[in-house]
Amino acid sequence: MMRSCFRILLSLALLGSCQQVAQDPGVYGPSIELVHIYNDEFPTGIAVSSTGRKFSNYPPSLDPNNTKYNVAELTSYDTEFPYPSVEINSPPGGFINYTTGSPAGANYPNYFLSVQSVVIDAKDRLWVLDSGRASTPTGASVLSSYGGPKLIGINLSTNEVFTTILFPTTVAYSDSNFNDIRFDLRPSTTPSGQGIAYITDSSTEGRNGIVTVDLGTSQSWRHLDNVPMVHVEFLSTPVIWGEPVYSVTSAGRILSGADGTDGITLSSDGETLFWTAVGSRYLYSIPTARLRDNGPTSELMAQGAISSHGQIGTSDGLETDSNGLIYTGNFGLNAINIFDPATGIVSVFVRDPRIGWTDSMAVASDGYVYFTENQLWRTPSHYPGTDRRVRPFALFRAKVMGNGTKVQLM
Ligand SMILES: *[C@@H]1O[C@H](CO)[C@@H](O)[C@H](O)[C@H]1NC(C)=O
Ligand SMILES: *[C@@H]1O[C@H](CO)[C@@H](O)[C@H](O)[C@H]1NC(C)=O
Ligand SMILES: *[C@@H]1O[C@H](CO)[C@@H](O)[C@H](O)[C@H]1NC(C)=O
Ligand SMILES: *[C@@H]1O[C@H](CO)[C@@H](O)[C@H](O)[C@H]1NC(C)=O
Repeated sequence: MMRSCFRILLSLALLGSCQQVAQDPGVYGPSIELVHIYNDEFPTGIAVSSTGRKFSNYPPSLDPNNTKYNVAELTSYDTEFPYPSVEINSPPGGFINYTTGSPAGANYPNYFLSVQSVVIDAKDRLWVLDSGRASTPTGASVLSSYGGPKLIGINLSTNEVFTTILFPTTVAYSDSNFNDIRFDLRPSTTPSGQGIAYITDSSTEGRNGIVTVDLGTSQSWRHLDNVPMVHVEFLSTPVIWGEPVYSVTSAGRILSGADGTDGITLSSDGETLFWTAVGSRYLYSIPTARLRDNGPTSELMAQGAISSHGQIGTSDGLETDSNGLIYTGNFGLNAINIFDPATGIVSVFVRDPRIGWTDSMAVASDGYVYFTENQLWRTPSHYPGTDRRVRPFALFRAKVMGNGTKVQLM
């Protein structure tokens, strides 16, 4: 267009008949910086420590070729090393137990099987959330076995595991997919005083909900099981980089969205929990007190306490900064949005053609929001069912607005 316009300009030099019309500039907000490229395994999450150490996870549920490590430290611009050890990333016999009637997740509490999320808490400890559900080479995610679904805490000074919390089968169903997690270490949150964690169950099999974990007693319980707000939305289909995003089930059926509640983040005061389903455009929240309560009427109270914040765009991960702003993905607009709980207004934080499927975000204490771009909609589990990803995958960062930084709930 520019060139033909230029030619017309040359030939009609003095006629002044060629005018530019307004167009989408394609970029908006702060510039984004490429921090790391992933040339090897397919990443989802990102965690950044107070000293700038970076960790990612690579769930074999989303890519059966993620066999060498579930968690790695990003050791340079383009290298990664299994974390906290090669051994914990190498379960004997693999992630899947093929000796059972039909293949199932291994029952190992001491090995990573399919890590969905890595998060660093306010005490600078790394937490690893394992769904226990790797995929077979044909891409079918197996059911978990007790021992597989777990939460592992790692001390970043010693690089050693300091706790392992297993979920009973009444909390992590065999078809659950524990996806993402947030921490509130304030002693006031529980009688045991060691803080609390909230987890999304994004199961594509549909038993979605929110799980609460008492980090002092290791007890966990579910809330909001199967309410519409944790489910995929009816026929909600984003388009990323011009490509429609439909899920393809392992049985070959094409659906408009499969993952239930997935993105999760706390308000900066820890009193409200926000979530989104990947197969939905809505943002919801609930007072965290309703999730910590596990009494006889607590589910009734929780269901009555959900707020809808309307359609904010399709998002995977969510994140919060110290100014209380909530960062959400916005598939289809090449953007990351901001939801301001103080006004209810959704606005664009940053746009860039390199942004597509923003998988996970982490606001770090250096005042940047780090985010992974992993082309998840181009994996074989999405229409048309072929692998269309182009390596490398990317980790970017952008400066947070208003000098915002990491929220420290402790
Ligand atoms: C895994 O890697 C093999 C060998 O490179 C390739 O043929 C296969 O398509 C890959 N599978 C997936 C799901 O990416
Ligand atoms: C595999 O399944 C068998 C039969 O249920 C069980 O005895 C064994 O402990 C399982 N092993 C792993 C690693 O899950
Ligand atoms: C990590 O381990 C060191 C050495 O045992 C200990 O001093 C420190 O308090 C631990 N850090 C946390 C956050 O628990
Ligand atoms: C951010 O910090 C700078 C340097 O301390 C200060 O000049 C500026 O006013 C701050 N901006 C906001 C929005 O707080």
